[in-house]
Amino acid sequence: MKITLIHGQSHKGSTYHVARILAEKIDGEITEIVLPRDFDQMCVGCAQCIKKDEKLCPHYEKLAPITEAIDAADLLIFESPVYVYHVTSAMKALLEHYGWRWIMHRPEESMFKKQMVCIATAAGGGQKNTCQDMADSAAYWGVAKTYKYGIAVRAMKWEDVTAKTKDKIERDMDALASKIKANQGRVKPPLKTRIFFPVMSMVLKKRPDSVDAKYWKEKGWLDGKRPWK
Ligand SMILES: Cc1cc2nc3c(=O)[nH]c(=O)nc-3n(C[C@H](O)[C@H](O)[C@H](O)COP(=O)(O)O)c2cc1C
Repeated sequence: MKITLIHGQSHKGSTYHVARILAEKIDGEITEIVLPRDFDQMCVGCAQCIKKDEKLCPHYEKLAPITEAIDAADLLIFESPVYVYHVTSAMKALLEHYGWRWIMHRPEESMFKKQMVCIATAAGGGQKNTCQDMADSAAYWGVAKTYKYGIAVRAMKWEDVTAKTKDKIERDMDALASKIKANQGRVKPPLKTRIFFPVMSMVLKKRPDSVDAKYWKEKGWLDGKRPWK
């Protein structure tokens, strides 16, 4: 299984370790992207990616290797420590650069067959929101199956996490890795996606000259073809 692991921070703390433990248990081919080291650009808000062409983004070339790694993966693992109840700014900046890939615009076909895990660690709270920040993009990218794993590690660094919590993480990651392996190649997007997709198809048929409608037309999605089939 090809795994692309995106770290929302550049240090090897608790969140890094939880994500690595999971990736290693799945025993696939792992590609790692570390933020902001590998991508440190902020969205400039020109909206050219959404309105015209993603290649017009001033950061397109810098983003391209990450996009390739995402597209090549069977499993995406996105992780972020909780920073003031949400993902790190580096993770948020990356997600913003994929607004054009949301279902209502030009979703990537392979997403509809992928699995994704969103991982967050907090000292005490905010892990739910933080997982959701990443899961929102997963849902609107069309990812077939998304798992969320948040844990309050009660520490500011991995070395201070208790043995009991580390044991729990090991057990939780064993269970999650088994589920992911069992689901590989068998996932289908949730009902919400399968309902939203034809609704978007109807909306885009009414705007045949838009870049989004042209993309959907090329894919056959305006004529009943579906990316998960
Ligand atoms: C800028 C900053 C903001 C934080 N905000 C929160 C927070 O909102 N809630 C919380 O429980 N912990 C918060 N923390 C603590 C971290 O989320 C927590 O220690 C986490 O496990 C760190 O993960 P890491 O070791 O991967 O960096 C914050 C830490 C930093 C540096």
